[in-house]
Parts: sequence; C-alpha cells; structure tokens
Amino acid sequence: MEKKFKRTTVTSALPYANGPVHIGHLAGVYVPADIYVRYLRLKKEDVLFIGGSDEHGVPITIRARKEGITPQDVVDRYHKLIKDSFEEFGISFDVYGRTTSKVHGETASDFFRTLYDKGEFVEKTSMQYYDEEARTFLADRYITGECPYCHAEGAYGDQCEKCGSSLSPTELINPKSAISGSKPVMRETKHWYLPLDKHEAWLRQWILEDHKEWRNNVYGQCKSWLDAGLHPRAVSRDLDWGIPVPVEGAEGKVLYVWFDAPIGYISNTKELLPDSWEKWWKDPETRLVHFIGKDNIVFHCIVFPAMLKAEGSYILPDNVPANEFLNLEGDKISTSRNWAVWLHEYLRDFPGKQDVLRYVLTANAPETKDNDFTWKDFQARNNNELVAVYGNFVNRALQLTQKYYEGIVPECGELTDYDRQTLDEFKDVKAKVEELLDNFKFRDAQKEAMNLARIGNKYIADCEPWKVVKTDPERVKTIIYISLQLTANLAIAFEPFLPFSSKKLRGMLNMENFEWNQLGRTDLLAAGHQLGKPELLFEKIEDDVIEAQVQKLLDTKKANEEANYKAKPIRENIAFEDFEKLDIRVGTVLECTKVPKADKLLCFKIADGLENRTIVSGIAKYYKPEDLVGKQVCFIANLPPRKLKGIESQGMILSAMDYDGSLSVTTVEREVKPGSEVC
Ligand code: 2FM
Ligand code: ZN
Repeated sequence: MEKKFKRTTVTSALPYANGPVHIGHLAGVYVPADIYVRYLRLKKEDVLFIGGSDEHGVPITIRARKEGITPQDVVDRYHKLIKDSFEEFGISFDVYGRTTSKVHGETASDFFRTLYDKGEFVEKTSMQYYDEEARTFLADRYITGECPYCHAEGAYGDQCEKCGSSLSPTELINPKSAISGSKPVMRETKHWYLPLDKHEAWLRQWILEDHKEWRNNVYGQCKSWLDAGLHPRAVSRDLDWGIPVPVEGAEGKVLYVWFDAPIGYISNTKELLPDSWEKWWKDPETRLVHFIGKDNIVFHCIVFPAMLKAEGSYILPDNVPANEFLNLEGDKISTSRNWAVWLHEYLRDFPGKQDVLRYVLTANAPETKDNDFTWKDFQARNNNELVAVYGNFVNRALQLTQKYYEGIVPECGELTDYDRQTLDEFKDVKAKVEELLDNFKFRDAQKEAMNLARIGNKYIADCEPWKVVKTDPERVKTIIYISLQLTANLAIAFEPFLPFSSKKLRGMLNMENFEWNQLGRTDLLAAGHQLGKPELLFEKIEDDVIEAQVQKLLDTKKANEEANYKAKPIRENIAFEDFEKLDIRVGTVLECTKVPKADKLLCFKIADGLENRTIVSGIAKYYKPEDLVGKQVCFIANLPPRKLKGIESQGMILSAMDYDGSLSVTTVEREVKPGSEVC
C-alpha cells in the first residue's frame, strides 16, 4: 500500500558535542542524508532537513572535568566547530540547533510531563552507587575498578576498555568513584521508566509486518530486540548536567540523554518554524525519515517511536535508513584513540575538495556492511574516476568547444547510429537514479551518475573529433553538440552528490537555470549558446599528499601504543641463592651469521675467555649480523645446550624487549675482558 505524502521531514542523528565530526559520521549519516534532501529539493518536493548537536550525557561531563572547564564550555566549543565544518562541507541543513537551547529544554520537559500526566511511565526504585564524599550518585562511567574478566585496573562501570567486556558497576572489583576516589556505597534511588514491554505488541506489528521494506540490517536488529522481549527503560538519571526532571521529588535528577536527544529533532524544527512546526511532526501526510548509524537503531526504531506513540499526537518514522560502520585503514574509528579523519582537519588539509570526500564516502558507503576507508583508495578514486573519467570528459568537451567554436554551442548535424545509441543510454538515467535514491541506495545511484561520465568519455574518445576535424568539420559539430548535452546532463545528475562541482560545471556551461526534470534530455544547451570559461573540474592528488596523511595516522598509532604501554608486573620474589645459580658473562662477538631457513635466528661465535662458544639467538629481525661483530654482549653461560635448527646453542644472549616486542641486545658500557662475570 503505497502512501502518498505531501512533505518529508528528514532528520540526521544529532552528534554529541564532545568532539569533532569524523568521516565515519559523514559516511554513515550526513552525506547520505544530504544527498537525499538535495534530491528531494531538486524534485521540488516539500522537505525539511533537521540537524543539531546532542549536548547532554555523561561523556560531556567527563570531558569537562578532565579539562577543568564546565560542560557548557565543552558543548559551546564543539557545537561551533561541528556546525561550521558541516556548513563548509555543504551539509545543507535547514536548521542546526542544539539541545541546550531554551526551546529544547521546554519542549523536552513538556514532553516528559505529558507522558507523566498520562501515566505512561512507571516509577521504580533501585540500588545505585553513591559517592558520599562528593554527595552524588555515580553514573556507570564514573565508577572504575578492576575488571572481573581480565583483571585490568581502571575498567569503567559500563565497560572494560582492555578486554571489551560489557559490565555493570556492581561487577567491578574494588570499585572507586572517579570523582573523589572514595569507595562508593549502595543507595536507593528513584527513576521513571518507559515500559517498553507494554508497547511490544504494536511495535511488532508496525515494524515486522508493516515495514518489511526497511533495510535488512535495520529490520534484523529490530527483530532480534523484539524477539528477545522488551523491558522498561529508565528515562531519568542522577546527574547534574541535563534537563531537570519536571516533577516534584526529582531534585538532582535529569532526563536521560537518549530521552531528550530525539526530542531535539522536534525542538529544532520549532526553533526554525515556531508557527508551523506541527505540520512537520503531526500531519499524517508528512513522511518522517531518520538517518542514523547502526548503533542508534534501537533508539530510533523502538524507543523514540514508543515515546511518540505514548504522547499520542505525533507521526511515526516511515523509514530509518541506518548505515553500518566505516573503518579507517582496517581499524575501528575511535574518538578516544584519535583514530579518525576529522572533518575540520580534512577541510584544512584539502581546501576546496569537499566533493572528493563526498564522492569517496558515497562510493564506499557502508550501506550493507562495514567498509574501510583508506587514503590509497581515496587517491585512486580521485585520480582514476573523478579526474580521469568525469573531469577528463568535461574538460575535453569544453576545451574543444573553445578551440573550434570560441565557446559557442555548435549546430547538431545528422546523427549516426553511434550517436543515437549514446543518447539512448542517457534517456533512462533519470528513472534509474530516482529509483535508487528513493530506495536509499546512494552508492549505486552515484555509480549511475558516474556511468554517464564513462559513456561520455568513451563517446568522445571513440569519435576522436581532434582527428575528424581535418577531414569532416561538419561531423565535429555534431560530436561536440552531443558531448555538451552529455556534460549538461552530468551537471544535473551529480547535483545531489557533488554540489560544489555541479555548481562549478554549471558556471563553465553558463547554465544558470536547470531542472532535475531535464535530466536525460539531449537539448539542454541550444546551438548558439555561449559557454563560460573552462577550468579543470578536479585535480590529481599526488603521492606525497597521501603519504603525509598516512604518516599522520602512523604517528597516532605509535603515540597510542606508547600511551598504553605499562611495564609488566614484577614476578614473585626468588631466593638469593637461586639468583646466584645463574652464571651471566660478557662475551665478544667473533662471528655472526644468519641461520638458513630461519628468519628470526642469528648464529654467534662468542669469545668467552675460555674455549669460545656458539649461541643461537632470535634477534635476526632487529640486527644486521655484520653490525654485531666486535660487540660485547651479555649471555647466560650455564644453561644446558639446546639444538636450534640443527645447531647446538651453548647459552642464551640477553636482550631487552621493548613494549612493541622489538629486541635490543644487552651490552656493557665499558669494554671488559671476554668471560667477565655479570654480578
Ligand atoms: O550516537 C550519537 O552520537 C547520539 N548523539 C545520537 C543522537 S540521535 C538523536 F536522538 F538525537
Ligand atoms: Zn577486562
């Protein structure tokens, strides 16, 4: 049952204002959402694109505490950074609000109050950790202790970052408050819960029966939540940062961030349209679409719809096209490990190249599975697709028009079969791109647009107007006429995906007015039309630029490894007599060679002051054998001989193992006689 809608409200997940936005956010949420709204606008549909910062929640308070500033300072800083970089990147929000705004505070508070008055919550008391010194209940992240699984120190009350286990604060061994360092005590606290169990039946029908068209990953995640059975979820927290719970007896309690954040979509709409916001949220002829990442599915498909339904006057989402994750150079993107390509840094390092990143992120969009971003792929897609296919075709068409006809569109002569065949390939592109975009298949839709450029490139390469001009100048007019129509089509087709380049291209074509509906037509530029000045649409990205970005990531990796390094705990004490049993000596390396067929082993001939000896040591990865000859090394002299790769090793050379596993051989600070004891 296809429903006819009058307008579309598009939301994109509100990013937490405790760090900048990175390519994972862009690929997962903002680029596809932006393509979608640009497409709807081009089709002249009524659409509203809502964005904003999510400014509550515990991580923001932790960041503030760490930096010795207020949570408000934190969100002010990042809200501005995020908003400005989205704008520069061309994410075309109609409004970009924030959840610390007055309108949002009132809207979220009223929403809670309505549900409270309707009896839609249940009140429950539970036991929770409380810090008596700081006089505050402790959020899970504010409790640290020993992980019950891997026994690492410093695990959080919700997760151990060392072994990745999900935890509850009561599982921690020796819990400590991260605020005062004191031992927390258990105290009773009251909270309001949204009884999701009561909503289960209609949610099952609504998602599993009525929305079978949702993406597999979204549908599948919802199904597994529903099949596992829903439980009441607390919508309040004991915290001093957030929107106060607007009922009596709720001092010191705020709305849970996941309760207020989605209401932010509504309040940001209100902020923009104080008098007409309701039609975007309450009219059944409005279609609501949420763009999110996969970690937000349960909140947008189950919790928020339950809140909207409980309130009673709102529409529910029609679709939630959630994406999977984008990894970076094979590793999960992580804000805390600084493993990311940050949007504001990209804009600084690649000025004017917004569309290159938009293109790559869409070409590689994690629509059905997690994908990987690599700088090599970024470079290849720019150089081999944007420059070599799209840019090359456009440049040839425009330069030739300039050269032969002073930039004026020539008359079209008689068409050959090949001309007709080429034009035919363009005719159904509009229907194809629309079908894909209507179904949120951005990757394939962009491929279709690129395919036009490929057709164009092939056409001009096959027709070789630069040769034909010498024999049949009339024919060249037709070739150029067709090439220019294809170019104009490209400007339209790429408009939702690469808006900066389309604008530039339209400038070069002197094509101010255009309509999405013209896509596929072959008479977009009339004969006699004067084109603008041709310029390069894209530029090659050189190796050194890419290498610099890769190096930046390698530096990050190294810094992380260093920051994470902790010496191993000291082993149990041993008896002094046991130590005395070890005979450690200094020897001089007389010969050192690689052991054949063993990439780790070196074979040493060592002068030990007696009869000399052979020792095999596993340090081949870290030394060139010739560099060790003449060095004095320490070795254990009284181990029983061992055969390694057929060689009898008479002792063990001592090496220090660095945190990354690399080995450094121990030597003496001043030369001593071979065979000297180490004591
Ligand atoms: O996961 C996140 O980054 C959340 N800040 C998304 C919130 S989406 C909406 F509910 F506001
Ligand atoms: Zn652990």
